[in-house]
Amino acid sequence: MLKKLFSRDEIDSAVKRLASQIEDDYGDEKIVFICLLKGSFIFTSDLIRQIRNPSRVDFLRVSSYGYGTSSKGEVTITKDIEDGIEGENVIIVEDIIDSGLTLTRVRNMLQDRKPKSLRICALLDKKARRKINIEGDYVGFTLEDGFVVGYGIDFDEMYRNLADIFVVVEE
Ligand code: PRP
Repeated sequence: MLKKLFSRDEIDSAVKRLASQIEDDYGDEKIVFICLLKGSFIFTSDLIRQIRNPSRVDFLRVSSYGYGTSSKGEVTITKDIEDGIEGENVIIVEDIIDSGLTLTRVRNMLQDRKPKSLRICALLDKKARRKINIEGDYVGFTLEDGFVVGYGIDFDEMYRNLADIFVVVEE
């Protein structure tokens, strides 16, 4: 059963707040947004449309979960970004930070490519489940444990299309 956690209006407000923080921090500078597929595709598309900086967007596909709700603890890069980021202001756009394994791997890989700056924007932060110490620079919501779906986030590849964010509750 799904129980609504964040409504589309609450998400919209959070996205606008994050966009405003990013605009304040970057002035007129160019930003390269790196969307972590698949979960972040809706968040990224909403976020970048609220930001007026000259921007590029690129897509990185990593896979850290099998089917089900628990992490296998493995992070594999299955689709790399297409353009270089050396000397660029890069923001990784992530739907949810859970154990932190995915972002740590991605951040280290991107840092090796010598961006001018590298920050993380995450819509959801599940701090209680962290296995590695990594924090988002821009965070929409913090939440306790619980498996969430909707707004791009899946459970066994389903529910990405839901406009609100729900928590999966056992019946
Ligand atoms: C999910 C989520 C994050 C990651 C967070 O991705 O979108 O990228 O797990 O978990 P972690 O902090 O424990 O590493 P998933 O691998 O399910 O792929 P998806 O984005 O394609 O759904």
